[in-house]
Amino acid sequence: MVQRSGENRTVQSSAGSPTPPPAEFVEQANVTDEGIYEEFEERPECWERAATLVEWDREYDAIIDDDDPPFYRWFPGGQLNASYNCLDRHLEDGRKNHAAIWWEGKQGESETYTYRELYVAVNEFAAALQSLGVEEDDVVTIYLPMIPELPIAMLACARIGAPHSVVFAGLSADALATRMDAADSEYLVTADGYYRRGNAFNQKSKADNALISVGRDVSTVVVDRFGDDLPHVLNEGQYDYHDLVAGHTGETVPPVSRDADDMLFLMYTSGTTGEPKGVVHTTGGYLAYAAWTARTVFDLEPEDTYWCSADIGWITGHTYIVYGPLALGSTTVIYEGTPDYPERDRLWEIVERNAVDVFYTAPTTIQAFMKWGPEYPERHDLSSLRLLGSVGEPISPRPWQWYYDHVGDGACPVVDTWWQTETGGVTVTTLPGVKPMKPGSAGPPLPGIDARVVDDDGEEVDPGQPGYLTLHRPWPGMAKTLYDDDEKYLAEYWQRFSDPEADEWVYFSGDAASVDEDGYVTILGRVDDVINVAGHRLSTMEIESAILGVEGIAEAAVVGGTDPANGTEVYAYVSTENDHAPDQAVRERITSSIETAIGPIATPEAVVFTPDLPKTRSGKIMRRLLEDIASGDELGDTSALRNPEIVGEIQAATRDE
Ligand code: WT7
Repeated sequence: MVQRSGENRTVQSSAGSPTPPPAEFVEQANVTDEGIYEEFEERPECWERAATLVEWDREYDAIIDDDDPPFYRWFPGGQLNASYNCLDRHLEDGRKNHAAIWWEGKQGESETYTYRELYVAVNEFAAALQSLGVEEDDVVTIYLPMIPELPIAMLACARIGAPHSVVFAGLSADALATRMDAADSEYLVTADGYYRRGNAFNQKSKADNALISVGRDVSTVVVDRFGDDLPHVLNEGQYDYHDLVAGHTGETVPPVSRDADDMLFLMYTSGTTGEPKGVVHTTGGYLAYAAWTARTVFDLEPEDTYWCSADIGWITGHTYIVYGPLALGSTTVIYEGTPDYPERDRLWEIVERNAVDVFYTAPTTIQAFMKWGPEYPERHDLSSLRLLGSVGEPISPRPWQWYYDHVGDGACPVVDTWWQTETGGVTVTTLPGVKPMKPGSAGPPLPGIDARVVDDDGEEVDPGQPGYLTLHRPWPGMAKTLYDDDEKYLAEYWQRFSDPEADEWVYFSGDAASVDEDGYVTILGRVDDVINVAGHRLSTMEIESAILGVEGIAEAAVVGGTDPANGTEVYAYVSTENDHAPDQAVRERITSSIETAIGPIATPEAVVFTPDLPKTRSGKIMRRLLEDIASGDELGDTSALRNPEIVGEIQAATRDE
């Protein structure tokens, strides 16, 4: 039985009936032989196939060094450069004037970078970074909206062996400062502003606020995105991006050979504590896995135009906007805006205009389109599409079917890809040219991935039963560790189900899932204190601690409330101290405290005041019950509560919100 905070939980999986991949797709697919599963089963050396998708400066001596599990070293002895792999080699293979990036701006503007142009821009910025003193292994923080300078800065860092740490532009000044401090980062690349819902927001003032609390000197580069529309002043140690680059016109910087397991980048993500975790990804294993999964799961070919609508500020964008597609030499679309601006057909207009072959998005986006109706995709010729992908949350059978019918016109397989910041790339999904799809289920683990669903004792559960989703064999895209914290890495992911004495190492994902008779995995959601809201991974503890920072708050519990139409949203249950009335002013202070600590992505859908929170006799807040209330679900057994009388009151207050 899957347990959360000591509470029982049973959830039914409801995957739809199998849909075979369309024949036309299979005919041209990169992988069509089912035998690939068995081959990987028998020979872990199969990962060589991923490694051959990248070019090595020095051949690796072995596929894996597993002497010190779970600190596996992939492709030991190998050396390579990620920027070289995404740029230089495509100048040689006939793709120099092929589009690398198609950028679609928020205001309808667009820009194209050919591989050659991107190569020039990356080299010039790499030279600029070096002139500021950036050296190999220095962590460069990048806090940019979805503009071309974002992938350019990432690849420039990769070129000189400086790991990047991209912080999502919508996060707050406090969140940026915490991440810069944790990574000992002395360099920042940011912009004057960013767009949100058609308005210009000041990004630089957030960056400046963060820098006040960062405990060291930081050299900052500022991209002037808005010109005179959003004037800004450069302080000491701050440089204008374009002026700086102008001093390095035409310069080239040789790509640094990195060891396969040298850090390529750091990505902070929410964990079960208030502190964000700095997930470390390597150069060789990560890049090979990004390219391999882009080729096998997204069926990507160099000729393809590919569009992932995620933000580069999250892992999805790192792997499947930047590194995967560019390593393969494809064209990647980068979109700065939202799906409904200026009109609700914006995404489909972009698909049509750029003749996008492969499109990857999140269930929340699809659900929004379902609500708006099929007329928006119908306005456009979407026949260029060959494959569709979904990521971030479970996609229920109805939105799945809608996506399949109205966007894919029944001709495109839909890959429901399960993975995490820590896995580096997709780990569970249907290989689109091989496996039938089951709407509502992500699919079987990919070849070479040993995913299982286990009970509290680590034993595999029966088909259809809920349990914990675990990975029992290493894979090249896996995180190397947490930045500067091997112990926490062990404790967070490996302790729960591993048996070091028996040399059995099991990675725990933090998700609950079930498996059916065919080995298809249905994800049931997180079992730790992490919630996924519109593709953003949030720590309930981090939000709670922001609320508790507001004067007059006695207690707070934050949960994710989920309904089929809106996905998961943040619900905050709060009780105030006796002498503080729970009024609108307190509500506003709560919201603003959350926005300061994390950013508007964590703003609660509802702040529900209650005189008391539901507690067990031992005084533990029953978050699971609050989750059911927030989701409008039927409530389970409340007999374990010390204060069952409060439940009806909280339900009524939630409905009123
Ligand atoms: C969590 C990871 C890299 C993916 C983007 C988010 C949830 C992810 C699916 C899916 C159901 C999914 C899981 C996972 N998740 N993909 N296809 N079906 N749930 O990365 O921020 O690290 O979040 O997202 O709960 O643990 P992340």
